[in-house]
Amino acid sequence: MRTRELFNTDWQFYYGEAGPILKTVNKSGCLGGITSALPGERGEAVKLGPAGKFFLSLLSAGPENGDSPMGVLFGTDNKASTVRWRPVNLPHDWKTELEYTPDKSVFMAGAKENGVAYYRKVFPLAREDEGKHIAVEFNGICRSASIWFNGCFLGDHYSGYTSFSFDLADLANYGDEGDNVLLVRVDTTTGNEGWWYEGAGIYRDVYLVKTDTLHVDTWGTYIHLDKLENGSALMIAETTLVNRAYESRSARMDTLFFDDRGNKAGSAGSSFTLGPLDSLTLIQKITLPEPRLWSPETPVLYRALSTITEDDVVVDEYPSTFGIRTVAYTAEGLILNGKPIPLKGTCVHQDFAGIGTALPGDIHGYKIRKLLEMGSNAYRSAHHPADPVLLDICDRLGMLVIDENRLLESSELRLGDLRDLIKRDRNHPSVVLWSLCNEEMIGGSSLAVRMLRHLANEVRRLDKTRPVVSAELLPPGGALNPEYFKIFDVLGLNYPESPLMGDNLSKIKAAYPEGRYLNSETASYFSTRGAYADDWERCQNNNFGSRFSMMSPGKNVKDPIGAGGTARPEDALGFYAANPYTGGVFIWTGFDYRGEPSPFPWPAISSQFGIMDTCGFPKDYYYYYKAHWTAAALIHVMPHWTWPGREGENIRLRVFTNCEEAEIMVNGSSAGRKSCGQDWTEWELPYTPGVLEAVAYRDGKEAAREIHRTAGAPAALVLEPESWTETLLRAGAAAVVSVSVLDREGNPVPAADNSVSFEVTGNGRLLGLGNGDPADHGGDTYPVRRLFAGKAAAIIEAGAGKNSLILKAASPGLTGAALEVKIR
Ligand code: GAL
Repeated sequence: MRTRELFNTDWQFYYGEAGPILKTVNKSGCLGGITSALPGERGEAVKLGPAGKFFLSLLSAGPENGDSPMGVLFGTDNKASTVRWRPVNLPHDWKTELEYTPDKSVFMAGAKENGVAYYRKVFPLAREDEGKHIAVEFNGICRSASIWFNGCFLGDHYSGYTSFSFDLADLANYGDEGDNVLLVRVDTTTGNEGWWYEGAGIYRDVYLVKTDTLHVDTWGTYIHLDKLENGSALMIAETTLVNRAYESRSARMDTLFFDDRGNKAGSAGSSFTLGPLDSLTLIQKITLPEPRLWSPETPVLYRALSTITEDDVVVDEYPSTFGIRTVAYTAEGLILNGKPIPLKGTCVHQDFAGIGTALPGDIHGYKIRKLLEMGSNAYRSAHHPADPVLLDICDRLGMLVIDENRLLESSELRLGDLRDLIKRDRNHPSVVLWSLCNEEMIGGSSLAVRMLRHLANEVRRLDKTRPVVSAELLPPGGALNPEYFKIFDVLGLNYPESPLMGDNLSKIKAAYPEGRYLNSETASYFSTRGAYADDWERCQNNNFGSRFSMMSPGKNVKDPIGAGGTARPEDALGFYAANPYTGGVFIWTGFDYRGEPSPFPWPAISSQFGIMDTCGFPKDYYYYYKAHWTAAALIHVMPHWTWPGREGENIRLRVFTNCEEAEIMVNGSSAGRKSCGQDWTEWELPYTPGVLEAVAYRDGKEAAREIHRTAGAPAALVLEPESWTETLLRAGAAAVVSVSVLDREGNPVPAADNSVSFEVTGNGRLLGLGNGDPADHGGDTYPVRRLFAGKAAAIIEAGAGKNSLILKAASPGLTGAALEVKIR
C-alpha cells in the first residue's frame, strides 16, 4: 500500500566542493566514494558481483576508505571524501548562514556569494520494500542539482522552482544488503534564474514514496469541472496509471469523491489491463449533486481517493484534493462562479526573515494570513512556480493564485518545466490563472511569438479550465504587436498606472479591441518600516513618499517627489477604479524581499517595495490597503508620537480610514474633525509629548480609535506570538515571535534599536532572526539581533513530541523576557 513519508530529517550537509563526483563511469554501479556507504556506515562501497570480485582478487586490492575499486581499476577513481559532514534538517537555505558581501555580481541576488554544497542522506529500506515502486520527490532545489544513489548517477535538474522525482527501486539496498545513500550536489554558480534572492539548497520538502508497482503516477490525477448542470457538477477525473511490473496487470480503478464533511459524494469505476512497463490515462465522469462551490469566502475542498483493486486486493490508494468552481475572464475581470471578483492582489517572492527561502508550511501560512487580514484575495507567485505547500494553504484559506512559469522559452527543457508546473498544480482550486512570462526582453518579437504559441498551446492541452495570462511592460513608444497579445487570454499590464508608461494602453486597446486586461503588477512603492524621512546613508525611504524615485524630474512627470518606485499606491488603486476592465491590482510587493535593493546601492541588501517588511510587520501603507479592502471600521495614523528634542515643531500626520470622518486629538485637545476622501487625510500639529489619538466616525458615531503614546527610555523586552494566538504549538510547527521594547510605563518604544540575544531551551530550536532593516547585515542564524524601528522577529520550531519550549530574549540594561510555548 502507498506511503508518502516526509523525508526532511537527518541529512548530512557540506558547504564546498566535495568532488568532483563522476557522472559517467565505465563499470556500472561503481562510483563509490560519497555516493555509497562510507567506512563505518552499514553497507558496501561498491556492490561487487563474482566478476568484480575476481578482478579484484587479481589486483589483490580491496575497497579502502570507501574508494571505488572499479574506479581504481579503470582510472575513473572517485575518491572517498574526507568531507566533514554536519547534520541538517530540511527545508534548508545555506545562504542564510553566509556573511553579506559587497561583491557587485551578487548585489541583486541578496549579496551572498554563490557556491556549491552537498546533501547526503543514509537510510535503510526494509526487506519487505523489495519489489515495490520507490521514488524520491523533491518539491524544489535551488539551483542546479545533480543526484546520485548508491553508486549510480540519477540525473540533473536545473530549475530551482519546479518539482521532480527519481525512481529508486532497482538501485536500492534492502534489509541486510546495507543502507542506501542519496547524494545531492547543489550548485548556485551556474547562473541566476531571477533578479532577486533565490536562496540555495534543498529549500523545499522532500518525500519518499513507496507504492505497488501498479500505481497512480506522480501528479497522476486531474480532477476538473466539465460543467454545472441542473444543480449538479459534472466532474471529470483523469487518472494516469503506471505498471512498473514486468507482466500485464488487470485491475479496477475506482474514484471516490468525499465532501468536506467526509461524506461520500460520488464515484466511478473502470476496469483496465496494462501491459508491462506501460501506462494509460483513464477518463471517468462523476456527477456531484448539489456541489458546494469553492470561493475565497467558502473555500470548500473535496477529496478524491483513486483506488486500484486487483483480485479483490487493494494495491494502491492515491488521495487528491480539489475544489469545484468556474473561472472565466471577461471585460469585467475575473469571473468566479459566474460573479465578477475584483482582484485585490499582491506579488510575492518566497523568502522570509531569518530563514531565507526555506519556509516551512507554517511560515507560508503566516504570510498568507497576513495578506488575508489586509483584505487581499489574490497572490501572484512572482515570477516562478509556487511551492506546492503554499498552494495547499491557499486552497484551504481561500486565496486566489496566479501560478507563474519562469521563462519564455520553448526549448524541450523549459517545456518540460511548464508541463510539470501544470500537471502538479492543476487540481488546486486556488490557482485561477496561469502566467507564462514576466517582462521578457524579447516580448513582442517574432521569436517570442513562436515560443509563446508553443507554451500557451501546451498549457491548454493540459488544462482547459483556466485563462492564460502574461505580465508585460508596455512602455511608451514600445512596438505594438497584436499577434503577440492575441496568444494570451488576458494581457497582463505591469505598471499601467505609472506616469512612466505614458498612454500606450490606449494604443494597445485600439490595436486589439477584443483584448482582456489585468493589472498584473502595480505600485512598486518604496518605503522603510518606521521611517519618516529619506535617508541615503541608512538606506531608508520615507513612508510619506520617497524622493528616491524612479520617476525622476525632467521626464514630464507631474509630481516626482514622493512617488516611490514606479507609482504611488493611490495611483495603483485609482487607475483600477477608473479602468475596472483591468480586473484589479497586483501590488508589487506584499512583503519586502531580499535582493533587488533599489533604490539604494550597497550596504542595502533587501528591496523596499513591500506593504510589509521581511518579517511580515506592517508598514503604514498596509492600513491604506486594508482601509480599501475591508469593511470593519479602522483608523491608522502615521507617524508615532515619540519625537524627543522636537517639542514645538510641526509634525505631519496622515490618517488612513474607511470611515467618513476622522479627528485627531493631542493630549485630549481636538484638532478638529475632517471628512475623509478615498486616500488619506492630513494634519500638521506641533509636537507636545503625551497622547496622540485618531478617532474615526461612521454616521457621526465613533467607530474606531488608534492611540500612540510618547515613549520614554527603553526598559523591558516583550515577546509576543505573531503567527498564532495561544501559547500552544503543534509538534514540529514553525512560528514567528516578535520582540519589542517597552518603556517603564509599558509603552512601545518606536525607534528602539537595542541588541537582543535569543535562546531556545526545552523541546524546540531557533530557526532564524530578522528585523526588517533593509541594510542590516546581522546574521540570520546568529542568536543576536538588533531591533529595527522597535521590533525584531524570531522564527522558532517546536520539537517532535510533547513538552514545551522556552524562548528567552535578553538585552544589556533591559528587563529580559521569556515566552513559554506548550507543545501539543
Ligand atoms: C518589475 C519587475 C519586478 C521588479 C519590479 C521592481 O518591472 O517585474 O520583478 O523588478 O519591477 O519595481
